[in-house]
Amino acid sequence: MCGIVGYVGDRQAAEVLLSGLARLEYRGYDSAGVAILHDHGHDHNHDHDVDADDDAGNGNSNSNGNGALTLRKSVGKLAALREALDAEPLSGSVGIGHTRWATHGRPTVANAHPHRDCSGDLALVHNGIIENYASLREELRREGHSFLSDTDTEVIAHLIETYWNEQDTKQPTGSEYVQTSQPGLRLAAAVAAAMRRLKGAYAIAVMHRDEPGTIVAARKDSPLIVGLGQDENFVASDIPAVLEYTREVVILHDDELAILSADGVTVLNTCLEEQEPELLHVAWSLEAAEKGGYEDFMLKEIHEQPTALRETLRGRLVDGVVQLSELELDDAEIAGLNQVFIIACGTSYHAGRIAEIVMEVWARIPTEVQASSEFRYADPIIDEHTLVVAITQSGETADTLAGVREARARGAKVMAITNVVGSRVTREADGVIYTHAGPEIGVAATKTFTSQIAALNILALKLAQSKGTLEQRVIEDIYDELSSLPELVANQLLHQDEIQACASGDCCINACTSLFLGRGIGVPVAMEGALKLKEISYIHAEAYPAGEMKHGPIALISPEVPVIGIATNAATYEKVISNIEEVRARDAQVMLVGTEGNEELRHYAEHVFYVPEVSELLSPIVATVPLQLLAYYIAKARGCNVDQPRNLAKSVTVE
Ligand code: AGP
Repeated sequence: MCGIVGYVGDRQAAEVLLSGLARLEYRGYDSAGVAILHDHGHDHNHDHDVDADDDAGNGNSNSNGNGALTLRKSVGKLAALREALDAEPLSGSVGIGHTRWATHGRPTVANAHPHRDCSGDLALVHNGIIENYASLREELRREGHSFLSDTDTEVIAHLIETYWNEQDTKQPTGSEYVQTSQPGLRLAAAVAAAMRRLKGAYAIAVMHRDEPGTIVAARKDSPLIVGLGQDENFVASDIPAVLEYTREVVILHDDELAILSADGVTVLNTCLEEQEPELLHVAWSLEAAEKGGYEDFMLKEIHEQPTALRETLRGRLVDGVVQLSELELDDAEIAGLNQVFIIACGTSYHAGRIAEIVMEVWARIPTEVQASSEFRYADPIIDEHTLVVAITQSGETADTLAGVREARARGAKVMAITNVVGSRVTREADGVIYTHAGPEIGVAATKTFTSQIAALNILALKLAQSKGTLEQRVIEDIYDELSSLPELVANQLLHQDEIQACASGDCCINACTSLFLGRGIGVPVAMEGALKLKEISYIHAEAYPAGEMKHGPIALISPEVPVIGIATNAATYEKVISNIEEVRARDAQVMLVGTEGNEELRHYAEHVFYVPEVSELLSPIVATVPLQLLAYYIAKARGCNVDQPRNLAKSVTVE
């Protein structure tokens, strides 16, 4: 979820890039940079790059022939980049800028974008993840390219360089080798050829010293728009970046490229055939645009779950082998493990409770879960035969970090699962699995939760494969089903009417307390539903294993107490229904999360939130979505600030 801005026109590009990047700050970032093509005749041509905090020396400008292509990069907030540009301004009216939210490689100047090719003539910024970057880098290294960063992005710059250079030497054999004087087309041809080699998701903006006055942008599975101005044009990863200058935008589609110059914009497909651009007039306010048109970040992030899940699951099964090199344990070491111990807090703890069940069923390994705040003082029984999994979306939760230290001190190997590259847990754990869900701004964890579940599923599959507890065919079936979840969740999100209608009813809005019930893997789902509701709507919510209800909580039941049951298809479905009948007999208002097609549920509940049919162990992701939306709409109906609930912080860095 990095930010891209590109500009070509009459203004000083650096100013436009900085203001555009500032408009994308809400997306989160940990470093920033710009590349500007120096105009002839301007004053500030430098012989060498002066990267702020340059710890890599990777930014030599190239100042022969056309204007110099110069970079400024800095770690941290945009203020640091602005300072660097104030100290040594870059003059020029064509440039690209980027705010990076680290995914491959730590947040350093060397890893910050833009990245260059070997010649230094090409600069590129990128959002997304290139899945096959390791093999491409190896191939390019063999061809003599050298790399200055740990990023997947740099590979794209060198790949484009290869195709750019081939156009000098090869006869045209297709659209990728273009002999034409149209500005930008040679670069576009090289970009198109590179796109055919890339696997994964990307939005890129590229400039080349020998194509002055143009920027080439392209995308696949990562958003990118073009802003249309008068004698100036813009490219950006999101609309807010250009709203100060224009409200007319082109939405680029997958596998499309755009050539931008001050005079115009041409949209092409990867065969370099001109495409009809999709034009949009933006009527939203800037604030609404930052939220992508959603009312709140929380709702936006709920809707980002399909993308987040795709990113988490991308490339995790290759030729039947579960890919989890982050684990750094070979099969023999995995065979030597006698338990998994999961530590986490809050929503991450609920992901751990789901994983506990999945690990035991798939990998047949005893698994325990403990709240980090308990674990650290509990004198836990763990040793070098224990795999400790620390789950924390922020990577900064004090109790979980303390638990990591405690576990390592006792000889256990610690894997962190986090969403934030370079966060503290990544420095303290032995290995890290990133969820790649993109920055989450709403305090209530939504997309990070479902991504954690997906990552934990992959970990469980890896252990199962190494230990031989699941047949190969079963592993492949599970991975296929997991891979179908993003699409299923996307469909679910199209049908929220029942949830919205229910949330605005008196029974929900005026509730003082509520009860969430589930069995088996439905218990942690119920716990997460209850946490979401209480933290953003301030309605007390209690989650209980449905079978335990008669041992106490049933005393709470009255017509004023909404009961939310997890009644998806499962081995214990009938039991859940019996428990629901018990609460209905006491006049509770019942809502059920159930499997599509199960019409009998309507007899037991005022409202049924249907979710797609998936295997029981994979059901938590689809079952959680309606609970997130229910909490969201109830909180909104009660006038609560869902993005920043009272007393809560996004990272809890104190004990
Ligand atoms: C989730 O909605 C909460 N905001 C909170 O429970 C959170 O999950 C908890 O503080 C743990 O955070 P972490 O994942 O960053 O460690």
